[in-house]
Amino acid sequence: MTAEPLEHALDRHEHLTGTAPFPGPRRLVLRTARESDLPELQRLDTEVFQEVAYPAFLLRQLYDVYAEHLLVLDDGGGRLRGYVLAATTALSRDSWILGLCVAEDRRRHGLGRELMLEVLARLRHCGIERVRLTVEPANRAAILLYRSLGFRPEQPDAGLRRDYFGPGEDRQVMCLALPRLP
Ligand SMILES: CC(C)(COP(=O)(O)OP(=O)(O)OC[C@H]1O[C@@H](n2cnc3c(N)ncnc32)[C@H](O)[C@@H]1OP(=O)(O)O)[C@@H](O)C(=O)NCCC(=O)NCCS
Repeated sequence: MTAEPLEHALDRHEHLTGTAPFPGPRRLVLRTARESDLPELQRLDTEVFQEVAYPAFLLRQLYDVYAEHLLVLDDGGGRLRGYVLAATTALSRDSWILGLCVAEDRRRHGLGRELMLEVLARLRHCGIERVRLTVEPANRAAILLYRSLGFRPEQPDAGLRRDYFGPGEDRQVMCLALPRLP
């Protein structure tokens, strides 16, 4: 089941501040990814994550499995400016955030938060009760964003998992409990 709305224009910032968040006539649209987004998604993922970007074949298969929870920020001109991807498990009510990014020139405008809020709302609508993620311990921007959304380090060791992605690749695991829908 998919939460509504499937697509919405991101103009809340404009309402709040009286100024458009970005110059030009185009408003960003937050929507579910489409198959035709895959090349552009890969470009964005590589631009942001560089050597640790998802290989094309894996991104393709993540789309095949989790498309419902792969959301993108579309600038209307053929470019994607951000995405979030959540994976759900069939046998439990758990989910993992497997990817989140915003294009560098679009950061600090609330877009990362919008992506996360929308995917969390959809996960909750699907009956997910716990969302987990990993983050590089030095990634202050992401950790502050996740903390502001209620994520907390998953014990033990304040969430620190040494060599999580291989030698020297430590990660912090964070976790958020989603309240059940009434
Ligand atoms: C992490 C990321 C997605 C945040 O996106 P964003 O659109 O810039 O974030 P937002 O504008 O929604 O910020 C939300 C909150 O996050 C925190 N935050 C975001 N960027 C920050 C920064 N550079 N420094 C400090 N806090 C920051 C703040 O708490 C902010 O709230 P505030 O604006 O009220 O202070 C973005 O920096 C990014 O794409 N980074 C590279 C990829 C990455 O690290 N992804 C996460 C992997 S785990």
